[in-house]
Amino acid sequence: MSKQFDVIVIGGGPGGYIAAIRAAQLGFNTACIDEWKNGKGGPALGGTCTNVGCIPSKALLQSSEHFEHAGKHFADHGIEVKGLGLDLAKMIARKDQVVRQNNDGIAYLFKKNKVTFFHGRGSFVKPGDGAGYEIKVAGATEESIVGKHIIVATGSTARPLPGAPFDEENILSNDGALRVPAVPKKLGLVGSGVIGLEMGSVWRRLGSEVTILEALPDFLGLVDEQVAREAKKAFDKQGLKIELGVKVGEVKSGKKGVSVAWTNAKGEAKTLEVDKLIVSIGRVPNTVGLNPESVGLRLDERGAVVVDGDCRTNLPNVWAVGDVVRGPMLAHKAEEEGVAVAERIAGQHGHVNFNTVPWVIYTSPEIAWVGQTEQQLKAAGVKYRAGTFPFMANGRARALGDTTGLVKFLADAATDEILGVHIVGPLASELIAEAVVAMEFRASSEDIARICHAHPSLSEATKEAALAVDKRTLNF
Ligand code: FAD
Ligand code: NAI
Repeated sequence: MSKQFDVIVIGGGPGGYIAAIRAAQLGFNTACIDEWKNGKGGPALGGTCTNVGCIPSKALLQSSEHFEHAGKHFADHGIEVKGLGLDLAKMIARKDQVVRQNNDGIAYLFKKNKVTFFHGRGSFVKPGDGAGYEIKVAGATEESIVGKHIIVATGSTARPLPGAPFDEENILSNDGALRVPAVPKKLGLVGSGVIGLEMGSVWRRLGSEVTILEALPDFLGLVDEQVAREAKKAFDKQGLKIELGVKVGEVKSGKKGVSVAWTNAKGEAKTLEVDKLIVSIGRVPNTVGLNPESVGLRLDERGAVVVDGDCRTNLPNVWAVGDVVRGPMLAHKAEEEGVAVAERIAGQHGHVNFNTVPWVIYTSPEIAWVGQTEQQLKAAGVKYRAGTFPFMANGRARALGDTTGLVKFLADAATDEILGVHIVGPLASELIAEAVVAMEFRASSEDIARICHAHPSLSEATKEAALAVDKRTLNF
């Protein structure tokens, strides 16, 4: 007789493992199936985020930033560095170690919360009956388990350029981009979105000459235009070459590297010759091997599992969360959905506020935002007031030696409710949390302006930007 579970989660990334933990906390007999393999063929819980996404990219961003500081900025602080060298193998090994610590951490959490883990591929077999859905687990051995509720959290994979599949030697997805064995002299990237900018920054700091080819005419179209302009200025200064409005043509990969035919915004034909090419043109929802047809699980034209606002699929008691469904492909969005679904299964009122999901791009300067951009408010005809404050006028930023960027508040013209906060500058990733809390509590810009912020701190720039909405900054 097959093992029976109240909840089976397919996928052990941030959407899946968090859903499994929350379901177990709520008293459900819970299983999680994940197929990711580490270098030795063993399990590596945490999905894309832990293995080839958020965690390793942030480890390399940190290491490469230290390297750049030691080489270019320590001297400003009166610190002399002689004989600076790069041990790339050690840097990558450290990154791998950080990944392993996170893999092990999740395995520990499963034990602690009594989540039963299966290492292998989970797939639907046949439509559910009263007892639940049969799920086949194909790992070292094969077995069938049955779950009353199924949560699909199978994530996403990198989208290749047509006619140029990833070989992870020359044409790299996010996976290969995080383990290049030697710093490429010339590195090309296609797509100047989040991965393009983060990975381009890592390899530029380590010494690559980086060129990014971006199809859209505007830089970072998703981001507030003023913030995107500030960021672009900083990236130009760093030597990150970004070509906008391009059309990428044939990509040829050979022993000497990769050759990319492209036309620029003026329609002139060009060729980019590089040692390695990272393709970061977005990701596609992943249902490979899930066998959704066997149960009639509905997918949309992009291959995403179709869900309603509560992550319910077209099948009773089958839910889906994270990158495999609509919405931003972010780890914390996946986690919030995972928690909400487990709580809904328990009859509670799980809730995800999509308007307060923050975004962070971990470049230098960091870019972070929550809520609406100025261009979105204009397009929607919303009347708003804007306030900005530059880090140039912030004492802590001067002491840090990083005064790039600004904080920007957008507040409703009539009610003063905060509609969006946009930050480009040092530690924007941490500063944005205050704005998220404020928006979740539907605070006004005056609320933030009246709150005492520690001096000297970068967060004072947030308070000053809130004051700027009412045109009464104190330090600018
Ligand atoms: P995933 O993390 O993709 O996990 C899905 C898991 O399911 C995988 O382990 C997969 O092997 C497994 N699986 C799939 N099918 C099956 C099956 N049939 N049976 C068993 N197992 C299966 N987001 C952020 O918020 N912050 C960041 O800084 C950030 N950085 C990123 C950097 C890079 C380079 C990349 C590529 C992504 C980054 N992201 C970041 C995005 C983030 O990684 C994803 O949004 C997040 O991982 C989605 O979580 P998920 O649980 O939906 O899917
Ligand atoms: P992306 O959607 O951020 O950027 C893709 C870029 O490629 C876009 O600017 C797009 O216009 C461009 N593009 C698409 N097709 C192209 C083509 N044929 N030629 C040239 N340019 C083309 O996708 P990316 O960078 O691959 O990342 C995927 C997702 O992973 C992100 O959207 C984000 O959700 C997540 N992620 C999050 C991070 C974070 O939170 N810090 C870090 C990295 C990834």
